[in-house]
Amino acid sequence: MAKNHDVIIDKEKCIGCGLCAKDCVSGAIRVEEGKAVVNTMGCIACGHCEAICPKNAVTITGFHEEPIEFEEQTRLDPETLMKAIQTRRTIRVFKDQEVPKEVVKQIIEAGRLAPTGGNSQDTFYVVLGSKQAELEGLAVKLFQKITQMAKPILRFLKGMNIEEHFFFKKAPLVIVIMGSKVNASLAAENMAFMAEAHGLGVLYSGFFTMCVNQNRKIREIMRLKRGEKAVTTLVMGYPGVKYHRTVRREAAKVRTL
Ligand SMILES: Cc1cc2nc3c(=O)[nH]c(=O)nc-3n(C[C@H](O)[C@H](O)[C@H](O)COP(=O)(O)O)c2cc1C
Repeated sequence: MAKNHDVIIDKEKCIGCGLCAKDCVSGAIRVEEGKAVVNTMGCIACGHCEAICPKNAVTITGFHEEPIEFEEQTRLDPETLMKAIQTRRTIRVFKDQEVPKEVVKQIIEAGRLAPTGGNSQDTFYVVLGSKQAELEGLAVKLFQKITQMAKPILRFLKGMNIEEHFFFKKAPLVIVIMGSKVNASLAAENMAFMAEAHGLGVLYSGFFTMCVNQNRKIREIMRLKRGEKAVTTLVMGYPGVKYHRTVRREAAKVRTL
């Protein structure tokens, strides 16, 4: 069982329908004498048993929030979703306009609710806030050094001007997403969608992410422990540019077996 959590079955409410047992990914629930019985050994505390129970007879303890009841699943309309995907662009020019705290909270909430392998929930977020300029300064110095050395080898670096706003482009909000690769990437894309739904523009900064994983001083300021890995960085703010059409992309490489 995941630490600090327990699965409690309310025997009065349980009707022994077995839906929880059927849906349990770890096979940790069985029905005995018409009631659900939990063996918490393999349980990953994913909450499916609590979510699926038609009688609300299951409770997972130790979380800071209560489940929200819903009648039916909310689905995005595919055409609107496709349009949002087609027309979004990486933004590298931002308006001088703060992002409201409530919006920042909702962006992080969208990350928190992304799925994680084994329900590990190992993703965490560092909002650069008051340290943003100092961290960018350190990253610029580091990058100037690295690129100077690599310029003769890496052609794409030749035209790059590593100036003082190279990483964050004067954006008001930068969040580094920490954890394991797939989980943190899924959280980041949820966050990017939420940011864009709020009218923000987003830049994934692979360059700053590299700096976080390379530079001791940057890690110190971000209060990172040994082994804690930055997976990606979202640079966000209200866009200072407008795009009029989609971009051309390579055809999808699909192998159908
Ligand atoms: C993982 C990842 C890292 C990226 N890192 C940077 C970066 O450090 N600097 C930058 O200007 N753009 C960065 N980008 C943006 C890409 O260059 C951009 O997505 C690509 O050119 C396609 O443009 P579009 O996003 O507008 O469709 C990154 C994108 C991704 C997905």
